[in-house]
Amino acid sequence: MKKYVIVGAGSRAFGMFVKGLKEKQGKTLTISGVYDINKKRSEFYSEYLGPTLTVYTDFDEMLDRERPDAVIVATIDSTHHEYVVRALDLGYDVISEKPLTNTYEGAMAIREAERRSGKQVRVTFNCRFMPIFAKVKELLLEDRIGKVLSISYNYTLNRWHGGDYFKRWHRKMEYSQGMLLHKSTHHFDVINWLLCDEPKCVAALGNRVFYGDERKVLGERCSKCERAAECESYRSQSEELDKRLYFDAEGEDGYIRDKCAYLPDSDIYDNMSVSVMYKGGAILSYTLNLFSMREGYTMTIVGERGMLIVDCYKSDYGNGEELGIKILNKENEVVDIPFVSAEGAHGGGDKKLLEMIFGDNRCDPLGQLADSFAGISSAIIGMAANESIKTGKTVDVTSMLDDLR
Ligand SMILES: NC(=O)c1ccc[n+]([C@@H]2O[C@H](COP(=O)([O-])OP(=O)(O)OC[C@H]3O[C@@H](n4cnc5c(N)ncnc54)[C@H](O)[C@@H]3O)[C@@H](O)[C@H]2O)c1
Repeated sequence: MKKYVIVGAGSRAFGMFVKGLKEKQGKTLTISGVYDINKKRSEFYSEYLGPTLTVYTDFDEMLDRERPDAVIVATIDSTHHEYVVRALDLGYDVISEKPLTNTYEGAMAIREAERRSGKQVRVTFNCRFMPIFAKVKELLLEDRIGKVLSISYNYTLNRWHGGDYFKRWHRKMEYSQGMLLHKSTHHFDVINWLLCDEPKCVAALGNRVFYGDERKVLGERCSKCERAAECESYRSQSEELDKRLYFDAEGEDGYIRDKCAYLPDSDIYDNMSVSVMYKGGAILSYTLNLFSMREGYTMTIVGERGMLIVDCYKSDYGNGEELGIKILNKENEVVDIPFVSAEGAHGGGDKKLLEMIFGDNRCDPLGQLADSFAGISSAIIGMAANESIKTGKTVDVTSMLDDLR
């Protein structure tokens, strides 16, 4: 039976690995240890999974005692590389949440540690596993629209979801490096994977036009806000998970999970546009904004022999998805492409990813499992985009990526 340990006992690791794998616990696998700087969160995990999960207050000690088959890294983004490198150096494989790292130094350290240890890193890019993108990948592999020349990808978050990033650690560049790393790493990875190509140069614009505006502040934090009913970004405290992981654990580390999204001290962008030129010649035009009325995305892929349009708009966050794939061929006919959607978080991607990593199926015909180089190839676009926003210049990433190969 395979054994895993987790570092970073937050909401992601809980939903994805603890809850997501509970049925398998003790039958086909064991999650045997958890470490977090906030012990209260780890204790909640152990309460949920039972005594087979040991709470540790030291990462090295956890690895030394448990000797797992792999270490699951799900801490805040700015710390991923520290745990990935340490786990590799101690001789363990790693399963890391995205972004694999959000700095170039982190990327370099991970690749070097992988080389010296001979151990392997896997990045949990769940978007590759969403049935809608798996279908698009299949269509491109079948050569339905010919060589891809241009892609536009426009992604919008509504004010509840988008605003949530301005309430948590994500609101500071220091921890998240902004949404072009934290969020867009999914999107850049999907494009890299669909194209089977690598980025060559990146140019971007970004600003903050909606959140962080003092005039809109109604209270310091949602849980103490007397004018919550007026706020489009209000997050209710009704969730047991939020209570146990954050509110009850505040005394341990002072972390506030529900700061007002409009407080002026955040320093990330909410309005972004990125252009990426790929080695094979395709150009991606990407936008992300965090303050839209509706949640969703549109992707248009233009090939030499046709056009592929992917649409996903949600009438409310997580509900009422309107999904579709269409191909417009050279004869100007529109063909609706059927595909089987899936239940669950992230468009059904989480469940399928778990099946692939922790199930019996080792067959990966679409190449959905991502390695460290895929993690880095996506993150490098976000890093270069941030650099371009600061300097106003186009950033060539060819040599940066070559040095990490
Ligand atoms: N794949 C996805 O769709 C998806 C979705 C959500 C989050 N994520 C990723 O999961 C990770 C966790 O996000 P989250 O939403 O659970 O955040 P969270 O704030 O709920 O959890 C982060 C945890 O990391 C812990 N932590 C912080 N610094 C640490 C350190 N130095 N050492 C050990 N633990 C430390 C915190 O105490 C906290 O428990 C992030 O990297 C995020 O990008 C991925």
